[in-house]
Amino acid sequence: MTDQLILGQTLAFAGDPAALGLGAVRHEAHGAVLIRAGKIAAIGPAHMLRQNHPAAQITDHGAKLILPGFIDAHAHYPQTAIIASWGKRLIDWLNSYTFPEEARFSDPAYASQIAGRYLDLLLANGTTTVASYCTIHPQSVEAFFTAAQTRKMRALAGKTCMDRDTAPAYLRDTAQSAYDDSRALLLRWHGVDRLSYVITPRFSPTSTPAQLAALGALWAEHPDCLMQTHLSEQTDEIAWAKSLYPKARDYLDTYEAYGLLGPNGLYGHAIHLEPREIDRLAEMDAALVHCPTSNSFIGSGLFDMGLRDRLRVGLASDTGGGSSFSMLRTMAAAYEIAQLRGMALHPAALLWLATGASAAALRLENKIGRLAPEYEADLVVLDLAATPAIAQAASRAEDIWQAVFPTIMMGDDRAIAQVYVAGRPTRA
Ligand code: GUN
Ligand code: ZN
Repeated sequence: MTDQLILGQTLAFAGDPAALGLGAVRHEAHGAVLIRAGKIAAIGPAHMLRQNHPAAQITDHGAKLILPGFIDAHAHYPQTAIIASWGKRLIDWLNSYTFPEEARFSDPAYASQIAGRYLDLLLANGTTTVASYCTIHPQSVEAFFTAAQTRKMRALAGKTCMDRDTAPAYLRDTAQSAYDDSRALLLRWHGVDRLSYVITPRFSPTSTPAQLAALGALWAEHPDCLMQTHLSEQTDEIAWAKSLYPKARDYLDTYEAYGLLGPNGLYGHAIHLEPREIDRLAEMDAALVHCPTSNSFIGSGLFDMGLRDRLRVGLASDTGGGSSFSMLRTMAAAYEIAQLRGMALHPAALLWLATGASAAALRLENKIGRLAPEYEADLVVLDLAATPAIAQAASRAEDIWQAVFPTIMMGDDRAIAQVYVAGRPTRA
């Protein structure tokens, strides 16, 4: 296979800029990424790579910015069609919009239609990896993994489990079927191509203790798998969780007591945490996922970015609770929510959240999320002047951070000039 040399501006992060400083981010105004067999083989100044690889096939993106493809660490692909549904808070939103829509995924044809539509929307928005919830139906997982496999995407997903009478009867499994179906899907899909199975209890209010224990047992049998769930999203949800688990010390304890707290745990939202919960999550090296457009759209609250000092934190759309498929819109919302808590997130921190930090939350920090040799060549190419409003703001920029920030704040799919998945361009 011929080497490909992709030219443009590049921003290469050696690691978390919050820990390493901006000096650990290398900007090349005339940079290049060499792709060989789906991976990044080299990155550096364009003139050097051109010289060293004269036979490579060149694609020149001019002044556009090449970054790692965005990584969405928490989403619900079955909620694609109900995004932007009006006027409810979490529990009513689930009952009014989400559960009736998720019921439709018993139909494999509908599941594959939405899975394909969803992944195409992600690629149109520059997102190359997602960790998605499915529905209770095994066929919803089959549809999702098949659609991701066809697109050669790195993707993570699991069957959402709910067996409690707090969930509607038409959308319930059992403790045993959740274990059996999750296990069968895990054995069939985990590690196939670029796919990973994620054990997925929806959240403790819709599971019985028996179901949480069964999924805790499954996780103990497959500890290399991630486990994803929701934690402390809204205050009335927290009160509900505690009322259903009266012996629990706090919301996290409803998971901890059943073997669902661990280093490969991924806890979405995590807005209203108590000190013991933060301590335990940090002790276990668990990861949190910040879902800023969802947290404002459903009215959940303001995530504390200061938690990054103690915990791995990824960034996510949480569609359809989140109001956008775009990780640019998600970064903008993260910026605004941090501002409301008195913190101005640097553009480097925002870009890292959507790439390297989300990769680390998903335990994929050695595979995706960085422009570095040996990393998988999932790339997004950003037009930093995609609209007149963005172009006029960016035209005043004195450095790359000022040049990229208007796109972070005002950009959407129009800013996505090209997306590479495993080294292959997704557009003509
Ligand atoms: N908590 C439990 N299920 C969900 C969901 O589908 N979306 C959000 N935002 N929160 C949840
Ligand atoms: Zn969610």
